[in-house]
Amino acid sequence: MSKILVTGGAGFIGANFVHYWRGEYPADVLVVLDALTYAGNPASLEAVKEQAGFHFVHGNILDQALVEGLLREHEIDTIVHFAAESHVDRSIHGPDAFIETNIVGTHSMLKAAREVWLAGSGREHRFHHVSTDEVYGSLGPADPPFTETTAYAPNSPYSASKASSDHLVRSYHHTYGLQVSTSNCSNNYGPYQFPEKLIPLIIVNILAGKPLPVYGDGQNIRDWLYVDDHCRGIDLILKKGEVGGVYNIGGNNEWTNIDIVKLVCALMDECFARDEALNVRFPAAPEVVGRQAESLITYVKDRPGHDRRYAIDAAKCRAELGYVPRESFATGIRKTIAWMLENESWWRAVMDGSYRNWLDSHYGRMRRG
Ligand code: NAD
Ligand code: DAU
Repeated sequence: MSKILVTGGAGFIGANFVHYWRGEYPADVLVVLDALTYAGNPASLEAVKEQAGFHFVHGNILDQALVEGLLREHEIDTIVHFAAESHVDRSIHGPDAFIETNIVGTHSMLKAAREVWLAGSGREHRFHHVSTDEVYGSLGPADPPFTETTAYAPNSPYSASKASSDHLVRSYHHTYGLQVSTSNCSNNYGPYQFPEKLIPLIIVNILAGKPLPVYGDGQNIRDWLYVDDHCRGIDLILKKGEVGGVYNIGGNNEWTNIDIVKLVCALMDECFARDEALNVRFPAAPEVVGRQAESLITYVKDRPGHDRRYAIDAAKCRAELGYVPRESFATGIRKTIAWMLENESWWRAVMDGSYRNWLDSHYGRMRRG
């Protein structure tokens, strides 16, 4: 049985990881540590919150004493470190929080792990650091995909902060012998994603009849992976990955942004054609007045420093861990749209901030992003 501390478990991938892990390993203990910034939502953990062996702690990864206390109290043997500021646009407008959480916060986690696991208990342990393909920078159209040995070339404050945290994790392995692993994953999509990211943003804007903002010429390319496949990749790394190892996880699924937006538009049109109740629930949607969702596409000013293309070479994961994504994009994107349509109250609450009042009454007012 494992006892796992999941940082950022109330965020998009962290919450999916919790659901994945509870499904696969129900006897394991999971402790979620999350500061509940704008991106963290305990409602994403509603289904597991009363389960035996699950604990939610409202707190900050920068609080080293708190983390050390959790590692000791729950005899944690594994940390899966998701907590981060994750949105590139926010990092452009306000980089400080990214430096604080992603760099100083990760360092605080490493110090706590070293103190408890190396100086203290001496138990077998693993510190798994969840990182991103953005640390490798931007690819040209004919460049081969990123491998684990591609040189780091981060271009945004977000990716620079993640790159820095990757280096810190590596250094704690080489210098102190902390048993670490790192995964660098491509763009995730799926349930519980905050609607500031491209796919959920497009879905909610169609439902509200709002413009669908496409940055620049819409030809930037991302490699999309269903979030459960990311979680399974981390699982395999924890079980079979080498200590000190770095693994790229990706979907082998490159799309230009404009093609993704057009696909989501077409699938949303299909949903409205199939289900008349949607016309009543979402009266501002273009389909209600006989227009297609694509009519909302609006090209807007490009993101500064916008990386042109990301693509992951997941050969190492495949060869060493037997990793292959299970979800096809055709099914994953439909599942994601269906989830958004079935969970309107979740995304409305995170978008209008109304769940903040609930948070304040349950957790008190602490600093949130
Ligand atoms: P997210 O923004 O949805 O969630 C981040 C979570 O971390 C939130 O619950 C937030 O409250 C919490 N958090 C933020 N600062 C904290 C702090 N100081 N202390 C404790 N908790 C804090 O992010 P996500 O999209 O789920 O990404 C999770 C991780 O995966 C990040 O490290 C990100 O860099 C990485 N990643 C994301 C993607 C992607 O496509 N979303 C792809 C590859 C890697
Ligand atoms: O590659 C992994 C990364 O993917 C993660 O590390 C990040 O945490 C995650 O946010 C994501 O970063 P991106 O910047 O690629 O994701 P985002 O959803 O913000 O944007 C996807 C693409 O769509 C990108 O090229 C910018 C573009 N875009 C985005 C938004 C929000 C638009 O054209 N319009 C938009 O409104």
